[in-house]
Amino acid sequence: MSTLITNIAELMTQDLEHRVLKDAAVVVEGERISWIGAAADAPAADDAVDAGGRAMLPGWVDSHSHLLFAGDRTAEFEARMAGESYAAGGIAVTMNATRATSDFDLTRLAMGRVAEAVSQGTTYLETKTGYGLDVENEARSARIASTIADQVTYLGAHLVPAGQDPEAYTDLVCGPMLDAVLPYVQWADVFCEEGAFNAEQSRRVLVACRDAGLGLRVHGNQLGEGPGVQLALELGAASVDHVNYLAAQDVKALAASWSGWDPAAGAGERGTVATCLPACDLSTRQPLAPARELLDAGVQVALASNCNPGTSYTSSMAFCVTTAVLQLRLSVHEAVRAATYGGALALRRETGRDTDGERAVGSIAVGHRADLHLLNAPSATHLAYRPGMPLTYAVWRAGVRER
Ligand code: NIG
Repeated sequence: MSTLITNIAELMTQDLEHRVLKDAAVVVEGERISWIGAAADAPAADDAVDAGGRAMLPGWVDSHSHLLFAGDRTAEFEARMAGESYAAGGIAVTMNATRATSDFDLTRLAMGRVAEAVSQGTTYLETKTGYGLDVENEARSARIASTIADQVTYLGAHLVPAGQDPEAYTDLVCGPMLDAVLPYVQWADVFCEEGAFNAEQSRRVLVACRDAGLGLRVHGNQLGEGPGVQLALELGAASVDHVNYLAAQDVKALAASWSGWDPAAGAGERGTVATCLPACDLSTRQPLAPARELLDAGVQVALASNCNPGTSYTSSMAFCVTTAVLQLRLSVHEAVRAATYGGALALRRETGRDTDGERAVGSIAVGHRADLHLLNAPSATHLAYRPGMPLTYAVWRAGVRER
């Protein structure tokens, strides 16, 4: 079954050539893109959709979310808006609510959040454990997450539960808890920050997880100039997320991690993506991550929602893109790239083999997964020009029309 989507006013491919086509068309065949080009040259297909002069982008790739949770932290948010500062301890509130929730309800809540994200144009997403924080509940979160997300990250090292010895808990995270989540996860992460895990504990967790075959990600430099970025680089993590407080040498080292990679070919050795989370920065009143400086230095940047009940209760990637343009001074093209191709790079899914179903996501090119986002606007610029407006008009996820 093939579908021709034609009359696309602007097709922002986010491919390796950064092409933006005018008066374009796309053909979707099964779950893959089989043709893109000028609408006038489009081949026949089984079915046709008139895009009505709207703009099309790749679906958003949300490379950082925490969707496995129950409960509510409105009071903490209100206190923050009244002047309190964010502290890692709030995670325990969500841990208690999550542990007290049945499998059925936890699944239902997480599925609802994925549905919200997809209805706003997200077509590929990562989510994390991290609100179970014991062997049974981390394994349960990982298992449920593996049924609702494209990729799952183990975040047993999110907080040391009250009353537990930090070293003994770190041993648990590196041992029995890791064994229990392993069947369900691709990545491991650690909240490397004061009040959570120090550099040595973080290194221990990351090394154990790497030795078990997991890819690495790090929550780093969110609340201060901590060791997170340097640790992520030392261990070759795919991404370091938050990056609000960066020293000049952090930016330089992040850029250096990409020196073996050729962006024009999308080939070579990939470095560590700096993932900026602007919705979180606003909700915690932290300084915004220096995305402009990072891009100018040659760092590959991703934008992600960080949807979670504590610091960023939104899955709106459009909001992140709007903020990145209006506040972080990215161009619209750069912001959309960071929220699509950049997220895919952070999840190591920007390339893929057309033959075995592991198709690339985050850009529109022949053979890539048909993850498409049609805006109710003639150009992607409207994302920043009309902030907060409901601009998602249609969404295809792996070739299936979701909206
Ligand atoms: O990415 N920083 C650590 N983890 C989450 C927040 C978790 C919470 O407060 O519930 C984040 O912001």
